[in-house]
Amino acid sequence: MCGIIGIIGKAPVTPLLLDALKRLEYRGYDSAGVATLVNGHIDRRRAEGKLVNLEARLKAEPLPGTIGIGHTRWATHGKPSERNAHPIATDRVAIVHNGIIENFQELKDGLVAEGRRFDSDTDTEVVAQLLTSYLESQMSPEEAMGKAMARLRGAFALVALFSGRHDILMGARRGSSLAVGYGDGEMYIGTDALALAPFTSRVSYLEDDDWAVLKADGATVYQGTQKVKRPIKKSGLSSALIGKGNHQHFMLKEIHEQPTVIGDTLQSYLDPATRSVSLPALPFDWNKVSRVTITGCGTACYAGMIAKYWFEKLARLAVEVDVASEMRYREPPLPDGGVCIAVSQSGETVDTLEALRYAQSQKQTLLSVVNVPESAIARLSDVVLPTLAGPEIGVASTKAFTTQLVVLLAAAIAAGRARGTLSRDEEERLVLAMIELPARVNETLNMEEDYRRIAENTLAAARDVLYLGRGSSFPVALEGALKLKELSYIHAEGYAGGEMKHGPIALIDDEVPVVVVAPTDPIFDKIASNFEQVRARGGRLVLLSDKAGVARLGAKAETSIMMPDVDPIVAPILYTVAVQLLAYYTALAKGTDIDQPRNLAKSVTVE
Ligand code: G6P
Repeated sequence: MCGIIGIIGKAPVTPLLLDALKRLEYRGYDSAGVATLVNGHIDRRRAEGKLVNLEARLKAEPLPGTIGIGHTRWATHGKPSERNAHPIATDRVAIVHNGIIENFQELKDGLVAEGRRFDSDTDTEVVAQLLTSYLESQMSPEEAMGKAMARLRGAFALVALFSGRHDILMGARRGSSLAVGYGDGEMYIGTDALALAPFTSRVSYLEDDDWAVLKADGATVYQGTQKVKRPIKKSGLSSALIGKGNHQHFMLKEIHEQPTVIGDTLQSYLDPATRSVSLPALPFDWNKVSRVTITGCGTACYAGMIAKYWFEKLARLAVEVDVASEMRYREPPLPDGGVCIAVSQSGETVDTLEALRYAQSQKQTLLSVVNVPESAIARLSDVVLPTLAGPEIGVASTKAFTTQLVVLLAAAIAAGRARGTLSRDEEERLVLAMIELPARVNETLNMEEDYRRIAENTLAAARDVLYLGRGSSFPVALEGALKLKELSYIHAEGYAGGEMKHGPIALIDDEVPVVVVAPTDPIFDKIASNFEQVRARGGRLVLLSDKAGVARLGAKAETSIMMPDVDPIVAPILYTVAVQLLAYYTALAKGTDIDQPRNLAKSVTVE
């Protein structure tokens, strides 16, 4: 949700803090701030809105100091304003915080009763005030943090800077990620390895309930009062990976990376020599699986919906797909011998994490498909199938989604083989179709100008847009509508083609574009009927289909795109790229903020 950075440096740290915040801005961008020690005293600069505002502020009022912390915020408690921007500080301590302190009201009541005055509307301030109260009672920062950790409830990560202490920074985590970076006489602490990448590649990850004391020459980590060791690992992230390259937006760069990252992911899950799928060893037998429950949020949940079609068709397995925020509170009965699959780019979405915890309480085997192997969801799982998408910075998920689909399809094929519902010949055919995907995605990307044209001529001026699909194209329609609304702020809905006549057909007139996702698959005739129903009512049809589909319906559409021919099983992966491009170019035509759409954040670590 929010991005955190802390640095003990040798030279002034403000430029480095800002540099790290730029890499973290994708996590939240409604306000930002930095704090350093100047002559032993905490000094801060904060600004509402995007990081550029903070940068301008710092230009006008520079902030010296060789130790400091920084934060970029996505508001939860207290509206986005300078007053509520982090670092939140007293005269003794400054705090940057990600997540939620659930018992903040109870703690605040106690602190107010002690006579403490609160200056912000944030839950974070209770941490600052609690630490201050301990420090004023002569505790050391270490004692104060140890004691505070025992009193805080919720899921959070925080970093603290203490007045008069040029030598230490402290960090603590419960639920939200926090990584410690080791430099040469300098130390770093931040939300993830991405924030630290240009500073150092030597990184260790704090675990839940850890709190750490950083000094210029290293870190000491505690759980409660016990010292613990966390291994230092080499992070593979380079600064090149996290730049925009020649692209105007991270999203466009990430759309264009798809042939490569789909290829990388295929390489880990397929054996081209034997034309078979090879998954890592699984702690369960597909033959004994009673039911698969797939959970996730947003785009990740749509990946699960597509996978449901694959598991049912290829492995004849019963699959339930549940939005994580509903699953965790509905508490559905899950049968013995079930597998719960969590799908998440970040691996830290709190609803998905909690849904997985619920599945664990129901004795399900936990499998996760995640892009961040060190994440909380990965750690909780019995087995992890990583997507090899690399860092995804654009808030709207693109390459993470298509690589999730690749992994889930490989898993469905493996399940089908193990259960005897998929023949060896069929497996070979599907593996070949998967191997061709990077090339087909490339062909789609080569037609970018066609998408730009449709976006500018048909979609950008619309007030409402419908997306229709059937079978595994239905979740692609949902994903297309989600992408369009989050990027361009145009109201868009995805519908199963057959449901259109039960409601949305009432919306159709000559101003409503209807994007029809229609690869020629076994139910093409059905979506063709839905297409005709829209046409009969004067709807503006945008057809996404292959050669045969365009030959049949193209002349009746306002506009159409001829997609490369692919096996219908892999079509959802290819057609997703098409709806991504439509959304991107529509947003570009409208001039919205593509990488950081209003009100959204990349990873949602609060409810
Ligand atoms: C946010 C993002 C979405 C993403 C969802 C789930 O809402 O804006 O793009 O699909 O979270 O995130 P996850 O990291 O769990 O995939």
